Amino acid sequence: MSDRDVIIAETSRLIIRHFSAADLESLAPILANQKVMKFSLKGAKTKAETQIFIEKILADYQTKGCGLYAVIFRENMQLIGFCGLFFWPSIAGKEEVEIGYRFDPNYWGRGLATEAAKAVRDYAFTKFNFTSLISLIEPANIASIRVAEKNGMKYEKDDNFLGILARIYRIFKEKEN
Ligand SMILES: CC(C)(COP(=O)(O)OP(=O)(O)OC[C@H]1O[C@@H](n2cnc3c(N)ncnc32)[C@H](O)[C@@H]1OP(=O)(O)O)[C@@H](O)C(=O)NCCC(=O)NCCS
Repeated sequence: MSDRDVIIAETSRLIIRHFSAADLESLAPILANQKVMKFSLKGAKTKAETQIFIEKILADYQTKGCGLYAVIFRENMQLIGFCGLFFWPSIAGKEEVEIGYRFDPNYWGRGLATEAAKAVRDYAFTKFNFTSLISLIEPANIASIRVAEKNGMKYEKDDNFLGILARIYRIFKEKEN
């Protein structure tokens, strides 16, 4: 079975699956777009940088069992972006797991990021032992803040983060009785 056969969630409009090296051609133009990378530490990525990005994701599947995932739009079966789990070794001295997402602007404004983020949240809490998940968002990134809120996350605090002020949104796993 290849990586791209590993489906982690299906929603009404999306298939969320593992990346494979073959996704480079679809993901590179999305991450090369300045609009998509406006709120990102390093800005738009070259194709070579996206290749390294995918290689790191594949390494996370091996070492952590999860990571960032390819999001496929069922209607046309196109890869329209990513949504998944990103590992921060230390935020305020604590290891944290972030739900991160970036989508092709042609697909913005239809609730797709929210649909993907909710599916990833449920997958993460069901399959892994995370007590909480965060999203780190620059205050001006209103669309991302809305996605975090619609995903059930609550504003926790602002933090100066790698030289950038970011808001931490967090959701805790619901306790099972
Ligand atoms: C953030 C992103 C993933 C959202 O994708 P999306 O599929 O459009 O998100 P959704 O449609 O699920 O929700 C977007 C929400 O933001 C709102 N929104 C979008 N742009 C907005 C703006 N400029 N001002 C106010 N609200 C805005 C939408 O109205 C919607 O909220 P609503 O449902 O309450 O109306 C997408 O914009 C993106 O890829 N941005 C670039 C990458 C990025 O910034 N990623 C996050 C890094 S922290």
